[in-house]
Amino acid sequence: MADEPLVLGIETSCDETGVGIVRGQTLLADAVASSLSEHARFGGVVPEVASRAHLEAMVPALERSAREAGVRLNDLDAVAVTSGPGLAGALLVGVASAKALALGLGRPLYGVNHLAAHVAVDTLEHGPLPQPCLALLVSGGHSSLLLVEDVTGRVTPLGATIDDAAGEAFDKVARLLGLPFPGGPYIDRAAKEGDAAFVVFPRGLTGPRDLQRHRFDFSFSGLKTAVARWVETRERDGEPVPVADVAASFQEAVCDVLSRKAVDACRTHGVTDLLVGGGVAANSRLRAMVAERCAAAGIRLRVPRPSLCTDNGAMVAALGAEMVVRGRTPSRLDLPADSSLPVTSVAV
Ligand code: KG4
Ligand code: ZN
Repeated sequence: MADEPLVLGIETSCDETGVGIVRGQTLLADAVASSLSEHARFGGVVPEVASRAHLEAMVPALERSAREAGVRLNDLDAVAVTSGPGLAGALLVGVASAKALALGLGRPLYGVNHLAAHVAVDTLEHGPLPQPCLALLVSGGHSSLLLVEDVTGRVTPLGATIDDAAGEAFDKVARLLGLPFPGGPYIDRAAKEGDAAFVVFPRGLTGPRDLQRHRFDFSFSGLKTAVARWVETRERDGEPVPVADVAASFQEAVCDVLSRKAVDACRTHGVTDLLVGGGVAANSRLRAMVAERCAAAGIRLRVPRPSLCTDNGAMVAALGAEMVVRGRTPSRLDLPADSSLPVTSVAV
């Protein structure tokens, strides 16, 4: 093996079939095929449809990734795969493919945690991770605050959503406002023309009593309901719904809570580096608000570029490469797919 391991990563936890190749912390290829358009008319990801799409997209994505990286599969030092959390049937396609590849090539297999991979991906853009760092992961499937002491083994969940994920809230509110799926980017765009102070929507789990039990947890379903009630009242009164203003006011509430809790978690745990990842990290208001609050609190901020924030194979390869470099034990070939894998299990 050269100094830096050549690692292929496979991601199939939701609707993206991702195959990425890295050499150490250098990104060589990142092939992503999405089945999103097949789910749009259902307003959410349909697990069975996603699994079938992974099955069709996997080998072409593997070939494309190897071609893009200019490597032969036989040159790989290891194969990494998301073994959870995610949609069970979707994960199975990735895990089975990774096993076949590892077995056929005679290379070690690393089953890794999807959330830890969202953190590790930043090494490809900003170099080695500070230890410890705090991670705010916000996507369609998860909203978590994690204390990351070692991305290959010591990740402690500080809090998570108790109902909807942040991206899910964006998608549901977009639907209420008649915007397409997935709603996050459409709300982001509409909000640019709107007044964020038009309606003051509730900030979930930020009251004095919540600070005792749910200090670092999130709740977005009350916010979603508040937007629905507001829109209903407006429609009942026969008045037009100011989409841009409602989008901006909703987005403001989400970003306020996410950034406030992330900075509070850094301060409480004495951590000076914050990483923001997941699809919602692409949100322009969230990026600006977190940057402003981190600067005021003396916290260094790392946000990977949007294509690395959304689900992809490179993030899995990046975590796999860290595993190899740190001499972690590879997974066994009877590695399961675990839809509810806890974040404390970084490697499986
Ligand atoms: O990480 P991701 O690609 O997949 C999951 O693991 O869920 O995240 C997708 C989520 C969707 O809910 C989408 O609406 C949201 O990320 N999203 C955004 C933006 N771009 C994507 N939310 C807010 N603003 C955006 N610009
Ligand atoms: Zn994700």
